Amino acid sequence: MTQETIVIQEKEPLLQVRNIVKTFGIVKALSDVSFDLYPGEILGLIGENGSGKSTVSSIIAGMQKADSGEIFFQGKPWSASSMVDALDKGIGMIVQETGTIPGISVAENVFLGEIERFRVSHFPFAPLNKKKMNQEAEKILSLVDLHDISGSLMTGALDFVTRKLIEIAKVISKNPSIMIVDETSTALNQTGRQTLYRLMKEYRNAGKAVIFISHDLDEVIEQCDRLIVLRDGHFIQDLPKKDFSEDGIKKLMVGRSVAGDYYRSDYDGSFDPEVVMELKDASIPGSLDHVSLQIHKGEILGISGLSHCGMHTLGKVLFGARQLSDGEYLLHGKTVKNEANAMREKVGYVAKDRDTESLNLNASVSDNIAIAGLNSFSRGNFLVLYPDEKKYVNEQIDELQIKCFDRSQFVSTLSGGNKQKVVFGKWVGCGSEILILDCPTRGVDIGVKQFMYHIMYQLKKEGKTLVLISEELPELLGMSDRLIVMKDGKIQKEFPRSKDLRDVDVINYMI
Ligand SMILES: Nc1ncnc2c1ncn2[C@@H]1O[C@H](COP(=O)(O)OP(=O)(O)OP(=O)(O)O)[C@@H](O)[C@H]1O
Ligand SMILES: [Mg+2]
Repeated sequence: MTQETIVIQEKEPLLQVRNIVKTFGIVKALSDVSFDLYPGEILGLIGENGSGKSTVSSIIAGMQKADSGEIFFQGKPWSASSMVDALDKGIGMIVQETGTIPGISVAENVFLGEIERFRVSHFPFAPLNKKKMNQEAEKILSLVDLHDISGSLMTGALDFVTRKLIEIAKVISKNPSIMIVDETSTALNQTGRQTLYRLMKEYRNAGKAVIFISHDLDEVIEQCDRLIVLRDGHFIQDLPKKDFSEDGIKKLMVGRSVAGDYYRSDYDGSFDPEVVMELKDASIPGSLDHVSLQIHKGEILGISGLSHCGMHTLGKVLFGARQLSDGEYLLHGKTVKNEANAMREKVGYVAKDRDTESLNLNASVSDNIAIAGLNSFSRGNFLVLYPDEKKYVNEQIDELQIKCFDRSQFVSTLSGGNKQKVVFGKWVGCGSEILILDCPTRGVDIGVKQFMYHIMYQLKKEGKTLVLISEELPELLGMSDRLIVMKDGKIQKEFPRSKDLRDVDVINYMI
């Protein structure tokens, strides 16, 4: 143990989690999980997809109840009737999935559940003092370095990263003693992450504590003081900082050594000269600024950049989901007007905001996967061959090890990473010739990531085209034949594949 760990563990724990059990039907999400959290520490909670991280966190944060077990907070038995109640009492959580409501204003999201305090009088139907509410919301937003967002804006009009930052602001504005951060960093961009890390350190220095969940091992190793590993709902190990090693952690998480190449191992960045997608002087005010780009058969084109650089919009344009204001987008030489045009040309799209753009949460795993592959198991417009559909869906579930008790399980009840696997499987399984992948490995554990990279490389070798939009430079450097850097809606720089290319070379063009 390091000196620092000894000092921490001499203190009374802030939180004691004892023998927590939680089942969902036949799924045992948590079996007898116990651990302590000390003041002044950032505790990483790690484990494969579906290992129980979000479940145990959400029990602590008042979102759901355990079947059995006990929790003590500051030495006293802890119970919370809801997340709002937990936050009021000192434990706040930033949830893995989208936690803001799109149809209301930013300020209404920030003050959800406490809007009443902005009524101009105690009379229940008295009007709200919206000016005051917006001003107070804007003050709270500045805590997460959001200085130019008005409280009156509709939340649904904001991008995914900004909405995530609003959630963080909402939690920290209540000044909880424990902040739980569930797979939030991969939803953010580089600047957002720096803000989050800064806040976590402030918590540590103030003698509070953070539970941090992430599949990004570099980040976990860098940010956390101690780690707890879960596997299949079981507590596996408590790891002090001095024992952090990437290989050791991987092995503990997966239960075996993760061998073989993680990314592709070749540095031959060649591809077919045939152009399959072309943007000519493409513009959308505020997002894309005269972008001209050719994308080829058999190419993995990586796209990197900071927030609002335009890369996520570019992904939508390539799938026909956003129309250009100016310029042209040609797919196999033809103009694309909508998603149907793109899908007819066998384009698949994994959106960054998977819950609202890529999945139907209130449908089964089977329906979500099958929808894109309808052509391969239906005849004409009406006849669906169910045995073929079943086979098709089962193949995706097996290949990607989607953790579900049954193909009829609703996607809303899958763990975050397993949802991501459903989206990936849906588009890969249906034989897409072109794949637009916006942060495809977000929230996916290392074992499955490795498998996804393998599939991407296979697809490239089969002559398919992949556009990999990502906030993760290592995966872009590891996988791309060609890497472009976007800034302010423009293409700033292009790099060919090379083993000498380092992340700093790329970052210089991003900022
Ligand atoms: N409401 C629910 N109904 C049925 N099963 C559920 C429900 N919530 C969670 N589960 C199951 O419990 C298990 C643990 O899920 P959990 O979300 O805690 O995993 P996780 O460790 O957070 O994974 P990830 O890294 O993918 O986010 C999974 O098998 C999941 O499908
Ligand atoms: Mg989770």
